Amino acid sequence: MGASAIFLFLLLSSLAFRQQIFHQPLIFVKGDMDLIQKTCKNTKYYDLCVSSLKSNATSSKADTKGLALIMIGIGIANATATSSYLSSQLPSSANDTILKKVLKECADKYSYAGDALQASVQDLAVESYDYAYMHIMAAADYPNGCHNAFKRYPELAYPPEIARREKGLKQICDVVLGIVDLLGW
Ligand SMILES: *[C@@H]1O[C@H](CO)[C@@H](O)[C@H](O)[C@H]1NC(C)=O
Ligand SMILES: *[C@@H]1O[C@H](CO)[C@@H](O)[C@H](O)[C@H]1NC(C)=O
Ligand SMILES: *[C@@H]1O[C@H](CO)[C@@H](O)[C@H](O)[C@H]1NC(C)=O
Repeated sequence: MGASAIFLFLLLSSLAFRQQIFHQPLIFVKGDMDLIQKTCKNTKYYDLCVSSLKSNATSSKADTKGLALIMIGIGIANATATSSYLSSQLPSSANDTILKKVLKECADKYSYAGDALQASVQDLAVESYDYAYMHIMAAADYPNGCHNAFKRYPELAYPPEIARREKGLKQICDVVLGIVDLLGW
């Protein structure tokens, strides 16, 4: 096979594999140690998913919904940490009114992202999966508000540290969406 044939073969196999993952009914039992791996296979960032879930001891006894809640908790902590980090940068930007304004806006956006994730916890509690989905999507979108605030002022460079945090939170939200997809709705 030529390189492109191999590529096509791999692409088709991986698509078939994904179809299987997405369309098989997923019935997992509590306490299944493989549950983390199986659940994370349905997400875009397997390694991030597994390492994040394993960092919380309660995940070994959690069902799929429990894993979603643990991952949301990690997302809330992440968004809150970034909001605090941005607020902590305000004093040193005191003489730069534009930067200060933008950092404040960014701190607010990350705080709203945390709130949206918190709302999704409530949604899951009452099995409103569509609302949970919407709130998680909103949480993933708030960092764009910060990035756009920087873009409004071309004289301000988008700091690599914020870019890194933006990517991190979006990936966590993507993982949460992949897990919520597995819940029965
Ligand atoms: C583990 O996750 C649960 C559920 O989200 C949370 O209540 C608990 O605080 C987490 N533990 C740690 C150590 O983060
Ligand atoms: C959360 O945010 C920090 C930056 O504060 C980042 O280093 C980390 O990788 C992020 N992700 C997780 C899963 O904690
Ligand atoms: C802001 O400007 C004032 C006066 O020029 C200066 O004394 C102060 O150190 C500056 N603060 C910062 C954080 O750069």
